[in-house]
Amino acid sequence: MPTKQSGGIRLAGIALLALGCGGAVAAAPVTLPAVPRNALRAPRDFAAIPDRDDRARAIFVEASRVMLHARCTNCHPAGDSPTQGEDGRMHDPPVARGPSDTGVPALECASCHQDRNLELARVPGAPKWHLAPIEMAWVGKTPGALCEQLKDRKRNGDKSLAEIAEHTAHDELVAWGWAPGHGREPAPGTQAEFAALVGAWVKEGAACPRDEVKR
Ligand code: HEC
Ligand code: HEC
Repeated sequence: MPTKQSGGIRLAGIALLALGCGGAVAAAPVTLPAVPRNALRAPRDFAAIPDRDDRARAIFVEASRVMLHARCTNCHPAGDSPTQGEDGRMHDPPVARGPSDTGVPALECASCHQDRNLELARVPGAPKWHLAPIEMAWVGKTPGALCEQLKDRKRNGDKSLAEIAEHTAHDELVAWGWAPGHGREPAPGTQAEFAALVGAWVKEGAACPRDEVKR
């Protein structure tokens, strides 16, 4: 892992290159401002991209830097168990999602996870702590695949795009991503900045990045 600042600039460079390669801004290369790893670009930073769909695609790639961050993916796993830490390792102790994503009777999520972080015990917490349903698995997704899934009412909890934007702005489990406690790295930017990106993506028509686009 490089240091935060230099890593940030390098990562921002990669994001730009990737956008170019993916064709998202190919017609008129637009230079997005470099931001550190822990910051987000604002919707206005994308205003110079002339094509509306390309603009939406680039905004989604930026928002996906939050969604594909460990603070979110650890609770949106592709299997039966949450993961933990910056590297998404297996949850210790081993736990299973159970029939309603809240654990199994003997080992419910809420028997350890309270409605707030427990600093001494290192246990993260927020109201109604439980696992995202399997159809909302985000681990290992490209921004393009994540985007298609997010728009699919069969895989997004039957939410409209407006409801998705609302969820990102106000949900308490989402909010935990920026107040994770105990030295965990928060998701980039702030929840308000993230929600502004999702809102802007919806407003610009919600086109999805092409699948080869990487973060
Ligand atoms: C026996 C207690 C216990 C149970 C039951 C439990 N957890 Fe945890 N969980 C922990 C502890 C302790 C940590 C913190 C580990 C650390 O960071 O060292 C943790 C960490 C996590 C994290 C990682 C946060 C991050 O980004 O690093 C997630 C996600 C999580 N738990 C989800 C769940 C879910 C969902 C359930 C129910 C299916 C559950 N846990 C059940 C004790 C528990
Ligand atoms: C403690 C576990 C947990 C954490 C941490 C978490 N989520 Fe979720 N997420 C859920 C659950 C549970 C649902 C399903 C809730 C529902 O449908 O109302 C969900 C659903 C969502 C949805 C709705 C639809 C969909 O297709 O996935 C979005 C958007 C979302 N989460 C964003 C995030 C973001 C962004 C983060 C990180 C900043 C995050 N979540 C962190 C548990 C979590």
